[in-house]
Amino acid sequence: MSNIEIELPKWFDLHTHFRQGANVSAYISDHLSTACAGALAMPNTLPPVARVSGPNQDDSWSIESYREMLIEAGADQFEELIVPLYLSGMTTVEDIEAGAKSGLLRAAKYYPPHGTTNSAHGVPMEQWLGSDVFRALEDSGVILCLHGEQHGLAGAEYFDESATAESRFYQEWMPRLRESHPNLRLVCEHITTHEAVDFVRESPADRVAATITPQHLLYTVGHLIQGLRYHLYCLPIVKFDADRQALRTAVVAEGQSQFFAGTDSAPHTTKATECGCAAGCYTGSCAPQLYAMAFEEAGVDLSEESGQAKLRRFLSENGPRYYGFSPSAEKFRLVKSSAPAEIDETVAPEGTVKPLPLGMGLEVTWSLV
Ligand code: DOR
Ligand code: ZN
Repeated sequence: MSNIEIELPKWFDLHTHFRQGANVSAYISDHLSTACAGALAMPNTLPPVARVSGPNQDDSWSIESYREMLIEAGADQFEELIVPLYLSGMTTVEDIEAGAKSGLLRAAKYYPPHGTTNSAHGVPMEQWLGSDVFRALEDSGVILCLHGEQHGLAGAEYFDESATAESRFYQEWMPRLRESHPNLRLVCEHITTHEAVDFVRESPADRVAATITPQHLLYTVGHLIQGLRYHLYCLPIVKFDADRQALRTAVVAEGQSQFFAGTDSAPHTTKATECGCAAGCYTGSCAPQLYAMAFEEAGVDLSEESGQAKLRRFLSENGPRYYGFSPSAEKFRLVKSSAPAEIDETVAPEGTVKPLPLGMGLEVTWSLV
């Protein structure tokens, strides 16, 4: 294998989980070690980030108090730190208007109730469509991030060869959302299906974008169930080869501006539980390397400038452009060499987290230098 070296502007992770408590600084430090210039840190914390300003309380963090905690834990090293508001029964129009005006509120997050980790406070989409809260987001220019899965489905409807919770949501709800709120700007998060890719590609590029994780570009549900490799268990679950192919085609399309990095890196110190499995893959310490591998698997020649431009757009340019901030002026280098990279577990006070490549026995062929 010949050595390839690429220089890119530092990248942005526009969907990640830093949590709360004593492990936060280890997670932030992992991200910084990958030359990550900024992050959008998810609000499904305990308790949720369900208000905009003021001190943290027993039932909720505010964006202001959660950001302060992250900054104290090392996030001051980032150029950008966005925390979306967890949309819940607590959300008010006044909070959105004041938050947008103050600059604290830049994004809000839709969770399907009970659809994923700490999503119990979510309110169903049917209650948001046409609501004053969504109108306030629309009028204030606050981006709506969506975990796009239909909630409350029984097993056979949740995951079936003809439809899944995600494909149903993108066919039944997303067109209605796009039509009911024509000025609302959307980020379809961690998309996994060809139906979601189609929805994004047929929507205007200045209004609809999507994040894609490394695991959904690299793997299919076959990889998960062959040996029940639960480190790959995340939500939305990895899908079929045709879906992975649609994701790959979308990210490597010449000049594409709608798809960008959002790892959904989700640390769980205990993955296998007594009768189930916590959802989330940890890629905080190695995401750019995994994306480089995925781009190669998608047929991109990273030794050529045209191939590097595709990875640059996805990692470093499209996300900032969509969220309205500048790409980083700082650079980092990725190298492919014959010796596989050393990926370590993340050891932190509240427990150890196993990164996805260790859980999958994956040799990582790219490193950061
Ligand atoms: O796999 C996931 N893990 N999906 C989510 O939506 C949440 C995340 C987490 O917080 O662990
Ligand atoms: Zn997530």
